[in-house]
Amino acid sequence: MADKGTLSVTHLAGPLLAASVDLVAFVSFGDPTRDATFKSADQALGGVLSDVAKSESFEGKVGQSITVHTHGRIPARRVVVVGAGPRSEFGTPSIRDLAATVTQLANKASASALAFLVPALGANREAQVIQHVAEGVHLGVYKFGRYLTGDDHKRPMALKSFGLVTDAAPKAGKKPTVTHTKLVAAAILRGETIAFAINHARDLINEPAAVITPSALAADAMAIAKKHKGTVTATILDAKKCAELGMGMFLAVGQGSVQEAKFIHLTYKPAKKPKKKVAFIGKGVTFDSGGYSIKPSAAMEDMKVDMSGAAAVISALDAIATIGADIEVHAVAACCENLVSGHAYKLGDVLTSMDGTTVEINNTDAEGRLTLGDAITYVRAKIQPDEMFDFATLTGACMVALGPYTAGVMSDHEALLKSWMSASERTGEDMWRLPLNGRLREQLKSPIADMRNTGDRFGGAITAGLFLKTFAKDTPWVHVDIAGPASVSSARPSQPKGGTGFAVATMVEYATRR
Ligand code: BES
Ligand code: MN
Ligand code: ZN
Repeated sequence: MADKGTLSVTHLAGPLLAASVDLVAFVSFGDPTRDATFKSADQALGGVLSDVAKSESFEGKVGQSITVHTHGRIPARRVVVVGAGPRSEFGTPSIRDLAATVTQLANKASASALAFLVPALGANREAQVIQHVAEGVHLGVYKFGRYLTGDDHKRPMALKSFGLVTDAAPKAGKKPTVTHTKLVAAAILRGETIAFAINHARDLINEPAAVITPSALAADAMAIAKKHKGTVTATILDAKKCAELGMGMFLAVGQGSVQEAKFIHLTYKPAKKPKKKVAFIGKGVTFDSGGYSIKPSAAMEDMKVDMSGAAAVISALDAIATIGADIEVHAVAACCENLVSGHAYKLGDVLTSMDGTTVEINNTDAEGRLTLGDAITYVRAKIQPDEMFDFATLTGACMVALGPYTAGVMSDHEALLKSWMSASERTGEDMWRLPLNGRLREQLKSPIADMRNTGDRFGGAITAGLFLKTFAKDTPWVHVDIAGPASVSSARPSQPKGGTGFAVATMVEYATRR
């Protein structure tokens, strides 16, 4: 669960070793004995730090850390040094992981306050580094523990205050300037807001499908609108309203479930006239059994994550409204469950989409593109955005192509693609372009309808993208297949197993830093 309220990130005036906290921490890039902070800490502790580093073979590598007791030599009771690996390999995910590791070590040591020296990576990157540290702190304490009944999981976190020291050794008596303090505070607030949104998305993804139904997602969206009364509004369309709009593809996917399909539309409007309109569309299949093209049990086991795109766009809009943006932002999600029942859609059915295109179903497990196709048409008709993006756990083929940690990005709008990719580079979310090769469209030909919903074995991520392109038409559009990175089966310090909240950070970056 999110830790909102119990742990806060603050700015501390240096120097680090004078901080009156339970624990002080700093990082080491490789050989610690060549590091100035390490040397002065070692000196203050009478050489204990270098002794321990030697005996524990600490070489500043990623994953390494040493903890020493100070025995009253400095105000803090413990000093922690965390390995960061070589500077050349150091990126945004490493900063989040380091901050997460420090937070976890402090909690384990029952420290309630700590001081952490923000690694200096160049003056022009300071605000960004601070933001990413603040993100890592909250991402690192995330745990989905609602259903764990042991006492361990109920105990409150020891750590209450994560203090950032931004200057290793300020000149005697020198205090940070007011502007510097303000910039640091803004970076912290930004980082915390983004992390809370990511953790919220993680909660929505990790909750079982029995809890996070389309109606539950709609309620979550309404709560966000209520929280940002004045800038955010929520529109929820029920199945009847969607039928009136002609969303034949979306409704067909949901018709096999007793859970009613819900179409979610959140709008953020800035106080001033918006510079442009952007729509973020998320796949919201709250459980994907595959339908009559049923998935084998092992493949179905994790299919509560199939609403990760919806969770991401809803959570990102929350953070965007908190931070504020000069553009109008829409979050849209067509939410339903893909189940088997006497009411379910079948292979061979021909569906009519909201834009009139007819689609023959040759695989009921290629359901995401059906829900998204109508969502895209809705966005074009009702919002008429300058740009639209969709985020979808769409194809296993994308994971075959790029592995489990990288999203596949498809677009034929070069300029929009470029600015999206550069936002993703700033956030450290791993994305890679796949070609929207129009020749593969031949796989989507149907003898009895305008097209069919599924291609053959090769290029499965791309044929899904081409299917969506049919509905995106000439609106500048980027498709992001997050089937891999939306949830992970191996953890890293800032990212436990399960839902990751992937794409939230890049959406916020894109919308709030133009
Ligand atoms: N939700 C799945 C894709 C998926 C797979 C997401 C693994 C996360 C992890 C999607 O609806 C699906 O079933 N896709 C099919 C498409 C196929 C039938 C063309 C797939 O990838 O097998
Ligand atoms: Mn499916
Ligand atoms: Zn699916």
